[in-house]
Amino acid sequence: MLTKIDREKEFKRMVPHIADVDPQIVQAEKRLAQTSPFRQHFHIEPASGTLGDPNGFSFFAGQYHLFYQWSPLAFHQPALWQHGWYHLASPDLVHWQDLGPGMESDTSYDCHGTYSGSALPVGDRLFLMYTGNTWNRNWVRVPYQIGAWMNANNQVKKNAVPYLTGSPAGYTPHFRDPKLWHHDHHYYALLGAQRENLTGTALLYQSTDLTAWRLLGEVQTDTPDFGFMWECPDYFEVDGHGVLLFCPQGLSADGNFFNNVYQNGCFVGEPLNYATRGFHHGAFQELDAGFDFYATQTMQAPDGRRILSGWMGISEIHYPTEQYHYSGCLVIPRELSVHHNQLVQQPIRELTSLRRERQTVNQIGPGTVALPYTGQVSQEFDLTVSLAATQTVTLDFRADVLNQHHTRLTLDRGRQLCTLDRSQAGLSFAEQWGTVRHRRTPLGERVRVHVFVDTSSIEIFIGDGATVFTSRIFPAANQTQTFVTSSDGQAQVTGSIWNLA
Ligand code: FRU
Repeated sequence: MLTKIDREKEFKRMVPHIADVDPQIVQAEKRLAQTSPFRQHFHIEPASGTLGDPNGFSFFAGQYHLFYQWSPLAFHQPALWQHGWYHLASPDLVHWQDLGPGMESDTSYDCHGTYSGSALPVGDRLFLMYTGNTWNRNWVRVPYQIGAWMNANNQVKKNAVPYLTGSPAGYTPHFRDPKLWHHDHHYYALLGAQRENLTGTALLYQSTDLTAWRLLGEVQTDTPDFGFMWECPDYFEVDGHGVLLFCPQGLSADGNFFNNVYQNGCFVGEPLNYATRGFHHGAFQELDAGFDFYATQTMQAPDGRRILSGWMGISEIHYPTEQYHYSGCLVIPRELSVHHNQLVQQPIRELTSLRRERQTVNQIGPGTVALPYTGQVSQEFDLTVSLAATQTVTLDFRADVLNQHHTRLTLDRGRQLCTLDRSQAGLSFAEQWGTVRHRRTPLGERVRVHVFVDTSSIEIFIGDGATVFTSRIFPAANQTQTFVTSSDGQAQVTGSIWNLA
């Protein structure tokens, strides 16, 4: 968090438009980022500076659109404060065209940050709504909720006047991240908020014309006291269930749960009752069991699928890439569904278009077996691991030949527990938040382990996708091997490994 002095210094060097910065500075930042050994192969990451929340995730004018929170000069010394939404578009959610800055912090209503928001196609334009962050002369935060319109040529025009100034009575200035949708002839915006008693909640607004927004009130969840702030709220219906997805801040660690600095998860319940805002739901479900996962946003694809993007990072964590003046990437897009009242995630099927050379896996043996190396570290593994003849199987990804360094997944059938251990993964970071994560998971005789590895990340989908581990890892270049070890009996693993383009 910025201190008052920092802010004064930083904001003195504010540059609203990246185009107004000396191009040599911008290029030097990009060149430094390119020298990083950790540049991702098939994940979205910034050319320099920080990437944060996905924003404005939508399908409009024949393409998917995705923006992200962007601060390209965040690591330049002295800091040149610049912040906005960066814009990408894609026909398939896999191959992205770089469209440059989407919005920058260039009005008096968003001068201290073009914060998160969302998008909705309306007629022949894309409607955007976001939070403009400002600090007043007393260094008190004043949020504005602002509209903007994008045409089919990707030109964005912000409205001159915000819809909402400050926060409603009873709530603090932590009021942001509008998520838009349309339902039954009305537009809705759901905003993250903090009550004056410093508990988090989500406020529902309604509009018929995208001009006047009326506060309906809080979504009536069964949790009056659940963290101090809810960031990035989202509501959607899938498989007949209502899902309230959000990022509660301030939950205390509870055994294997809530081990990260902030959480990202959901309530699954009956569809929202729009008349009463009643939402009856089950227990909070942490969406991901890994270390780096936050600020998710979903959209509905033209074929009806509910697709999620998210930031593979969390604020307050410092990543080793910062020495190369960049940090953050987005997760691979995931299709959401609800099975047995649980939200599950699966990699979208379009990702198969990244597959190149394939190796067949059919390994069996006592102790440790090595999986074939496909010649590069960005790989997809679609494996079936047998737990029939052994209690525990460990899979070591991005391992060196001696298997001293690796990112280790353990499947423990006896305890019905999956464990991700990144303590030996490579460069260590954020160790104060622990290096091991556990998640109870139903493990039968056979379990599907579907893994996407990139230069500096791993995403592991176990079984039907109810357990997912997403993490940044920073292995050395010689960590190219994969090993499977059984605690007793035989390790048996079948499936395929692909190089990913
Ligand atoms: C979540 C968040 C949002 C805010 C944005 C600012 O990571 O704090 O609540 O809009 O980031 O970058």
